[in-house]
Amino acid sequence: GGGRGGLKSLPVPTIIGHRGASGYRPEHTLGAYQLALDMGADIVEAGDLVPTRDGHLVCRHEPEIGGTTDVADHPEFAGRRTTKTLDGVPVTGWFTEDFTLAELKRLRAVERIPQNRPHNTLYNGRWEIPTFEEVLRWQDEQSRRRGRPVWIYPELKHPTYFRKLGLGLEERVAKVLRRHRKDGRNAPVILQSFEPTSIQRLNGLVDNPLVVLLDAADSRPWDFVESGDPRTVADLITREGLKEIASYAQGIGPTLDLIIPRDANGRLTEPTTLVRDAHRAGLILHPYTLRNENPFLPADFRKGTDPDAYGDVFGAYRTYFATGIDGV
Ligand code: G3P
Ligand code: CA
Repeated sequence: GGGRGGLKSLPVPTIIGHRGASGYRPEHTLGAYQLALDMGADIVEAGDLVPTRDGHLVCRHEPEIGGTTDVADHPEFAGRRTTKTLDGVPVTGWFTEDFTLAELKRLRAVERIPQNRPHNTLYNGRWEIPTFEEVLRWQDEQSRRRGRPVWIYPELKHPTYFRKLGLGLEERVAKVLRRHRKDGRNAPVILQSFEPTSIQRLNGLVDNPLVVLLDAADSRPWDFVESGDPRTVADLITREGLKEIASYAQGIGPTLDLIIPRDANGRLTEPTTLVRDAHRAGLILHPYTLRNENPFLPADFRKGTDPDAYGDVFGAYRTYFATGIDGV
């Protein structure tokens, strides 16, 4: 089952396929998720969850889908192109919350970063946008086939933004998971979000493992900005802050910089005490994101490696594994 105790069954370090095998297939497609498992990922981040206008959950990196689908090739949707302010940032394009599921199902996924992954454009148009329900059914099938529970690790995207639109993500995730329960057992699903209040809300709704994502130390979670909570991520990773997180979550997902900061030249410096402090607070720690697509990676990590070959990238990150992280 996928209860919180199930976390103990995960290997250390756990390899999490970020948006599927996104270096090799357009991300957040069943094709990308499948390949991640076939390449040896223990878990798949499937997906980033965003809602449709009629309240379904679909897997896309962001609600804006101009760069991840062929929506621009559909003249019937030209009028839906618009500019919105998303977590304080103006974004122009097409948004999942303005489409019904039936409309989104007419679109096909395309490669998001073709300049980095030209080979992935071969698969443009092959897969549709998966729903959370479809992913859970795929997961069941994979677990059956592999004879072990295959975990997934969806992220709730922009929960405060969607709550204000009347599209609360937490209730919808809980409802889908409840409907999917078998023999009273939870699906093996870890839920993550950059907004601590979203994780707190989930804590009252589901018994799945929960992970608080943490961006740069000087940043503030968007729910804090909206509610006027002055704390930054630096405040959340103090011993006190971590103890508080441990009262409603099982883990944290920090950006790599919070574990091994870099100097002004982009070179890695000494690790912080975050891994130790998180473990002392009883939290597991799954940092993001170990990929060469990340423009912030130091150049010496990129040299000589296929920009998206996971094996090479994992090799280059021995340093991070040595810090004692639980997965990546
Ligand atoms: O697990 C967190 C990771 O997914 C970072 O966020 O922007 O890639 O969804 P993003
Ligand atoms: Ca994510």
